Amino acid sequence: AVSGETKHDLLGKRILITGGGTREPLDPVRFIGNRSSGKQAVALAQRAMQRGAEVTLIAAHLEVEPPAGISLVSVSTAADMHSEVKTLAPGFDIVIMAAAVSDYRMDTVSGSKLKKADNGGELHLTLVENPDILKELSSSKSAQQLVVGFAAETATEDELIRIGQEKLARKGCDLLILNQVGWDQGFGTESNTVTVLAAGGDILNTATGSKMSVADTILDCIATSPFHNA
Ligand code: CTP
Ligand code: CA
Repeated sequence: AVSGETKHDLLGKRILITGGGTREPLDPVRFIGNRSSGKQAVALAQRAMQRGAEVTLIAAHLEVEPPAGISLVSVSTAADMHSEVKTLAPGFDIVIMAAAVSDYRMDTVSGSKLKKADNGGELHLTLVENPDILKELSSSKSAQQLVVGFAAETATEDELIRIGQEKLARKGCDLLILNQVGWDQGFGTESNTVTVLAAGGDILNTATGSKMSVADTILDCIATSPFHNA
């Protein structure tokens, strides 16, 4: 965490951050969503800017105000986020995928409000998989780019690292920020606990505290990563 003066170790770096939670419409008035508030992404955007970076935030339904001084791109669905990341990412040195992206969307979105049916009390929805933005980005990025993923897990502490290492290998990103979430943990809260994994699975750092101080620990790992210095 930074105390006193702020270092400018990200000066001139262009950083793209995604944050918040995507929403998948069912019909004109309903959606499938998640409890991500966007607070960790907003804290990352603010600290990255204060440390000298040029920041663009692709935001899906933030529950907090984004900081002044960054570029903001608002999106709603995973498909919107996918197309913005695809378009913007090539112009950035660092991409941090902090958003909670819906894994599935409705097979067909109803053009009119779905009506309650007389079918014995059950509703069956058909969902289809969304593209994995992080995985696609990791496989298409340039050698100088650094791609950072997040993993929100409800696993117990002893399973957490192994699950994170497997996810990191599957996604192919350079760093993975692992955090434990639950009914009252991680999503929407003021504080966070994270473990930073390097490609290969080594633990680079851990942090617990305000989302602002956790943002600083994550940015420390980014600023000192070999990709960034190359
Ligand atoms: N992510 C993404 N595109 C998706 C889903 C997730 O880019 N369609 C990104 C998230 O922004 C995050 C990372 O992938 O940085 C991990 O998301 P997570 O949901 O933990 O991973 P999944 O592979 O979807 O695994 P799970 O089955 O645990 O949901
Ligand atoms: Ca997922």
